Amino acid sequence: MLTLQGQEALRNADLVLGFTTVLNVVQPWLGDAEVRPMSYRDQEDVLEYAEGQVKAGKRCVVCCWGDLNVSARELLARVRRRAGAVELVPGISSVQVAMARTGISLEDSVFITLHKRADTASELEELVHYINEGRRHIILLPRPFDLMPAAIAQGLIDAGVPNDLPVTVYQRLTLEGEKRWSGGLRDCSEITEEFSDLSIMVFLTGTAPPEGR
Ligand SMILES: C[S@@+](CC[C@H](N)C(=O)[O-])C[C@H]1O[C@@H](n2cnc3c(N)ncnc32)[C@H](O)[C@@H]1O
Repeated sequence: MLTLQGQEALRNADLVLGFTTVLNVVQPWLGDAEVRPMSYRDQEDVLEYAEGQVKAGKRCVVCCWGDLNVSARELLARVRRRAGAVELVPGISSVQVAMARTGISLEDSVFITLHKRADTASELEELVHYINEGRRHIILLPRPFDLMPAAIAQGLIDAGVPNDLPVTVYQRLTLEGEKRWSGGLRDCSEITEEFSDLSIMVFLTGTAPPEGR
């Protein structure tokens, strides 16, 4: 799922940054570039180092999961603050993979991300709104790890959504250990096993039937 353009960018890079788990995935495509893993805690230090390298004429690539225009705004803003002009190389989003696994189309769906620092109450409100409206399917990114599928399902039940509303949770799409869970909202709320930080939820609440079902 790493595009040819992504591979080329990595091959031509002098410096490659990214969270460790992301770098593990692109590892086979890294050329001779210096590799700097970062964490939430030290990302500004790593980006400051990269800023110096870019000013010295080095080509720097910052990797993120999936596509950078899907719920990666915060990282992108940090990079832009340091680098000014940034070339965006589109990727393949977990949203696209979830749609392919489920058989739904973007035009019949709504995308909501909880994966951001914000007031979550309003996002759950939005989710409840689209569920009740029943026109589109919903693709939802949970928020590791305080607002994961079980807590979201409980929040929806508390908001009056029926216990048996079907929901599917995909974990680690396209990666080793990919998993799919499908069931009703109540069963989802009772799952005690920890979900992967790479989890995405699909609610088939739209009027267009999924392809092939
Ligand atoms: C910061 S967002 C970035 C999304 C990414 N830009 C994309 O296009 O998929 C990270 C969240 O995306 C979702 N995600 C990314 N990769 C995934 C995968 N392989 N399987 C399931 N969910 C994934 C998870 O909800 C994860 O917490």
